[in-house]
Amino acid sequence: MIWPHPLLEARWTDAKYGGEGIAQPWVQLLLYGLVRALGAREVIEFGAFRGVTTGWLALAVEANGGGIVYAVEPNVKDAVRTTDFCAALPLPATLVHVATDSTLAFIAANPDCVRTAGLLFLDDDKAAIAEKVAALRATGARGLLAVHDVDGGYANDPPLRKAWAALGGLTLPVVKVHEHGHLGLLQL
Ligand SMILES: C[S@@+](CC[C@H](N)C(=O)[O-])C[C@H]1O[C@@H](n2cnc3c(N)ncnc32)[C@H](O)[C@@H]1O
Repeated sequence: MIWPHPLLEARWTDAKYGGEGIAQPWVQLLLYGLVRALGAREVIEFGAFRGVTTGWLALAVEANGGGIVYAVEPNVKDAVRTTDFCAALPLPATLVHVATDSTLAFIAANPDCVRTAGLLFLDDDKAAIAEKVAALRATGARGLLAVHDVDGGYANDPPLRKAWAALGGLTLPVVKVHEHGHLGLLQL
């Protein structure tokens, strides 16, 4: 594994934070590479949880010369954790803006941010994917949308496979911790 910063590895190996609920580091590395490859300086994460993936995305934006990462996380405790985790990373040229909206509320309230984002990572409750993609596109967004666990990551996640397939995106099989998952990619 390549870790852009030791704190990212520490979070993954810390039993209190790592594992369940957090994107696997090899998926995070893939997202990091996509942000670098696209040269994206504006990124949005929907469903930031405790901010580990937000940190990866922000470090990628920083390596691109700096910019802004919007982290959307309606759980206020986790939103604070996201702010705190990113504050511990070396991000002199990158602002991490944490919003406690839901995905759809954030899109409705911030169409200009959505329109200019180079990469958007959707890792929220996985509900109403078609509605979310339509809302993103209605802003004029042209970025790359990455969706974690398009096959439903956990037992109680709604099955996305059919709705996702109808959108015509790429479905990339990825190795998860004890099983396989899928990362969806869709050019908006
Ligand atoms: C799987 S976790 C995200 C993990 C995080 N992206 C990572 O890899 O570290 C899902 C998160 O989505 C948030 N969430 C749930 N419903 C949401 C919604 N409607 N809009 C935005 N976020 C939501 C939850 O509070 C939770 O923190």
